[in-house]
Amino acid sequence: MQKIGSLKINGKAFLAPMADYTNVAFRELCREYGAALVYTELISVKGLLHKSKKTKEMLAVSEKEKPVFLQLFGNVPEEFARAIKLVEENYPNNFAGYDLNAGCSVPKAQKGMYGSSLLDYPKLIGNIVASMKSATKKPITVKMRLGLQKETFLECAKEAEKNGANAICVHARLGADGYSGKADWSKIKILKELISIPVIGNGDIDSAESASKMIKETNCDFVMVGRATIGNAFLFKQINSALSGKKVPEKTAKDSLFEAKKYLELAEEQKLKANDVRGYFIGWTKGQVGAPALRNKLALTKTVPEIKELIKSITQKED
Ligand SMILES: Cc1cc2nc3c(=O)[nH]c(=O)nc-3n(C[C@H](O)[C@H](O)[C@H](O)COP(=O)(O)O)c2cc1C
Repeated sequence: MQKIGSLKINGKAFLAPMADYTNVAFRELCREYGAALVYTELISVKGLLHKSKKTKEMLAVSEKEKPVFLQLFGNVPEEFARAIKLVEENYPNNFAGYDLNAGCSVPKAQKGMYGSSLLDYPKLIGNIVASMKSATKKPITVKMRLGLQKETFLECAKEAEKNGANAICVHARLGADGYSGKADWSKIKILKELISIPVIGNGDIDSAESASKMIKETNCDFVMVGRATIGNAFLFKQINSALSGKKVPEKTAKDSLFEAKKYLELAEEQKLKANDVRGYFIGWTKGQVGAPALRNKLALTKTVPEIKELIKSITQKED
């Protein structure tokens, strides 16, 4: 079994952190479908230190989704140690590890000098990792892009490794690229050859075949999947089958409905609101009969039970 630091990892496919999508229920769902590790969405170290109510809510973790990593963003090294200590004191059993966000590229991140802006400052990344390590014995990962405007990921990854990071995840695009063009997987291969800690490859995996292809082409230790899992946690089942040499199961309409109902059940257990889960269902409508009409109806729903009714009406039609 492969490890990240001292943590044994049972599988190769991780769920990517995605703001507004990777809530507790979605992470539980993905674990149930075979994600080996899940991440929270990015959480502000300053928000944590100020003990804001919203940040506190974002720290909620369930037993079913473990192991889960907490992803942090910020740019002041010592704040990371303080934030992790606070989490370890108050929620000692929630997280299996911590991740530094050095990949977020939205304008807010560039203005606030966090996320992929850190990639212009490899030494700062090293200092943040050192600070994180000083606060916990748990593994530390860094999730980065190739650079902000120009490629700096090799220097950044080396600094992170030198300061104790236990794995590097790379989304193979520049921050300035947003989501345009194709992720350049050849860079994941170069990173894998350079560092000795595990490499988690990320960017544009949308099928079991592409997950296998990324591992084959880059020799990365793990893969991380984001957008393609929205409304489609079943993808983890398919990826795991492909990676263990088994026949990849086709997703049927029945599988799709089963997954939607399961997610609603988990969302209700976690007392999520319609706004928390609507994004998943927008993704889920892809490939459904009458998807545009379904999306219009979804937009009008105000509560999780209303979404449940909508999904039930599709089930009845299918029956
Ligand atoms: C809606 C959305 C929210 C995201 N939020 C985060 C985040 O909170 N932290 C992070 O490191 N990356 C975030 N990302 C980036 C993803 O983790 C991932 O790196 C990116 O989507 C590329 O992987 P994919 O091609 O499999 O989607 C987000 C992506 C999307 C689409």
